[in-house]
Amino acid sequence: MKLLTAPSRSRLQPRMTQRALALGFAALLPLVAQAQNPDEALQDEARKVAMSLPPKLLAALQAEIKQSGPEGAIPVCRDLAPKMAAEAMEKTGWKIRRVSLKTRNEQRATPDAWERAALEEFERRAAAGTPAGELEKGERVGNEYRYVKALPTQKLCLQCHGPVESLSPAVRETLAKYYPNDHGTGFSEGQIRGAVSVRKPL
Ligand code: HEC
Repeated sequence: MKLLTAPSRSRLQPRMTQRALALGFAALLPLVAQAQNPDEALQDEARKVAMSLPPKLLAALQAEIKQSGPEGAIPVCRDLAPKMAAEAMEKTGWKIRRVSLKTRNEQRATPDAWERAALEEFERRAAAGTPAGELEKGERVGNEYRYVKALPTQKLCLQCHGPVESLSPAVRETLAKYYPNDHGTGFSEGQIRGAVSVRKPL
């Protein structure tokens, strides 16, 4: 709080006042930003946890696609995503999962009311021009801190999440086998595929 203690008025030269005020405001800005979001540290931590999963999953997917094609990577994605999430939880104490408004695995990825509201807000903001990769939301909900970060559809994702008619026959067949109720297709590059959702009791 040292920054806040301005020199007493009698010591300020009149011509210096304006400059001092401007400097004072500049120094205050970060403090004001922090006051607006007292949970900034929690949000940073949540973001770090949420962002730790997708690159690992992506690397594993890429390796598997190379080895056995996208159809071969489908069961890997199904088993690996929850396994990585469980490991991350053990390591960090944050519960982590993926959610979507258009689910492939409805048992795992159906959003609850808070997640749904956040995803719907992301869709509105994306429609208004915010890039999907910048969309996030974090807040205290009851006795928890909750955070979601949008997952943009990248080119690679289209092999399994693009328009049905663009998928290879083998991918279509494998998806039909594992996910008879699949809503996770029809996406184009840049759209929000879903989000990583993390939460921790406070
Ligand atoms: C090899 C095929 C494949 C590729 C490539 C792929 N996914 Fe998926 N994706 C799946 C499968 C299979 C599931 C269902 C996993 C499960 O059962 O939990 C899934 C589920 C998801 C989910 C969870 C929500 C839901 O609908 O069940 C998200 C979010 C997601 N994928 C995002 C992506 C993103 C983003 C990319 C690109 C970076 C991507 N996926 C690339 C196959 C793929």
